[in-house]
Amino acid sequence: MRLKGKSALITGSARGIGRAFAEAYVREGATVAIADINLEAAEATAKAIGPAAHAVKLDVTDQASIEAAVKAVEAKAGGLNILINNAALFDLASIVEIGRASYERLFSVNVAGTLFMLQAAARSMIAAGRGGKIINMASQAGRRGEPLVAVYCATKAAVISLTQSAGLDLIKHRINVNAIAPGVVDGEHWDHVDSLFAKYENRPKGEKKRLVGESVPYGRMGRAEDLTGMAVFLASDEAEYIVAQTYNVDGGQWMS
Ligand SMILES: NC(=O)c1ccc[n+]([C@@H]2O[C@H](COP(=O)([O-])OP(=O)(O)OC[C@H]3O[C@@H](n4cnc5c(N)ncnc54)[C@H](O)[C@@H]3O)[C@@H](O)[C@H]2O)c1
Repeated sequence: MRLKGKSALITGSARGIGRAFAEAYVREGATVAIADINLEAAEATAKAIGPAAHAVKLDVTDQASIEAAVKAVEAKAGGLNILINNAALFDLASIVEIGRASYERLFSVNVAGTLFMLQAAARSMIAAGRGGKIINMASQAGRRGEPLVAVYCATKAAVISLTQSAGLDLIKHRINVNAIAPGVVDGEHWDHVDSLFAKYENRPKGEKKRLVGESVPYGRMGRAEDLTGMAVFLASDEAEYIVAQTYNVDGGQWMS
């Protein structure tokens, strides 16, 4: 029960990695807001997790929605102790084909969404005067470029940079800002990624997934559950002295 009595908001937690984080946080004693643009899916996830989870409608690209979600969590749980900035979009295109609409959508969700969600959570935490923990979801994609993934890689590099600046700025309020950089994690997100690679690299469906899984030193793709230990640790009192860091949890992929 390392998060007993804590209130957490996890963006994009109706499915995938965010959902696994919500389940782990509830097991550790937290109450969790399943905050997602897909309210129906968020409600189904909250119901499946149980009474310690509740759904909140959130669009991280909309400032009014961000502020309403933080207020809803404060009203429901008596405050906000932990934020995970997890919602993100992915797209694929070669440099000569990238369209402005895709660029703007990805930066709006992955970067502006992370910054302004983090800002709203930090304001709430500062007003309450009890510090807090903020975890941003980066990626191995933020640590290097990839030929077809320029925009997503750039957004995740920006998340690593924001984590450093926000971490240094907010620690004076006893708010720890850190990030997790996963490698390749199986789930609906990667089903979408695989189908984009099938199209752009002219591969049979499922082949890219198989190849990336084989390339991971651990021997397989990650599972959402592989990341929950780090997410619980960074939100716990044990991580009090950790500031502005991005941790790889990737089966050795980045090192290889
Ligand atoms: N899956 C991977 O291989 C992988 C690897 C590295 C990093 N990551 C990162 O981990 C995080 C979670 O990934 P995932 O695989 O679970 O993704 P996912 O696509 O399965 O889930 C993303 C969730 O975000 C929600 N969302 C989308 N736009 C939103 C918005 N504007 N406002 C609020 N919610 C919104 C979606 O409805 C969805 O529930 C992301 O930040 C992703 O970039 C994933």
